[in-house]
Amino acid sequence: MFSFFKPESGVQAAKGKVVALMNQKGGVGKTTMAFNLAHAFAHQGKKVLCIDMDPQANFTSLFGTVATDLHIYHLLINSIKELKALHTGTLLSDVLIHTEEHIDLIPAGQELSGFELTIAGINAPRQLILKKFIEKNDLRSQYDVIVIDGPPTLGLLVVNILCATDGVLYPFVPDRFSEQGLKNIQQVVADIADMEITSVPKNLGYIPNLFDTRRKQANDDLEQIKITLGEGIVHEPFTNKVQFGKSLAQRKSVFHYKTVEYKDLQRQFVTMTETVDKELHS
Ligand SMILES: Nc1ncnc2c1ncn2[C@@H]1O[C@H](COP(=O)(O)OP(=O)(O)O)[C@@H](O)[C@H]1O
Ligand SMILES: [Mg+2]
Repeated sequence: MFSFFKPESGVQAAKGKVVALMNQKGGVGKTTMAFNLAHAFAHQGKKVLCIDMDPQANFTSLFGTVATDLHIYHLLINSIKELKALHTGTLLSDVLIHTEEHIDLIPAGQELSGFELTIAGINAPRQLILKKFIEKNDLRSQYDVIVIDGPPTLGLLVVNILCATDGVLYPFVPDRFSEQGLKNIQQVVADIADMEITSVPKNLGYIPNLFDTRRKQANDDLEQIKITLGEGIVHEPFTNKVQFGKSLAQRKSVFHYKTVEYKDLQRQFVTMTETVDKELHS
């Protein structure tokens, strides 16, 4: 089990990819998708690091981790020289949690909600704190995939995620209110492109979630949204699945179950990993 995390000697360090699940809206499935996608990659033998960037820390709790005192906030603040007065001496090894499923986790906690205020006055580029943290700790050579769960906001936390990531998946609920939220976050991506401070993350596609097949208009709505979104992959929609509720209540991914009722969801997530891989390497 532990050998899984040992760097392979003699083998050139692989360059891991960073993927974020983002949407300004809450309740659209960001955390659910991040959790299951991470497990889908792990099931394919990949070393996965999950980073919880939402102060609500739902991603963290899905791993069965009770509120931790030390988390991503402390690591990020410690990485900013100008904020020496706030440093806690927290090391990555103090914070990193090895989960049972060959996935490591950097948890989040309540303090993360104060991140934007804390860094408001610094001179160093405020947008690149997470990116530099990942670089300084050489996380891309230790993991094949880094999965970031984003908060339902649009501030500096989100900008930091977008600057640190190679690609973004956008879960959304395809109703007539969904377009604006998606457009807003893409405006942030466009602003990052204008700033020319880092490379722009690739759009890895939209994930229609809680797709209501019983509603007559649902298909038409989705088609309309596809047209407005323009370019970009639209992944196979997820309908309302009790299997998500059941599995998440047990803090398990859909890959934990062998029964037939989970097969379709497993297939959907495997397909998603294949699309993500393909897009990130093209
Ligand atoms: N396709 C789905 N079917 C059933 N329940 C879902 C589905 N997607 C998400 N949920 C549930 O909806 C709630 C919100 O999802 P979550 O992933 O936490 O959204 P977000 O991270 O965007 O706020 C969770 O309780 C989750 O279990
Ligand atoms: Mg969430």
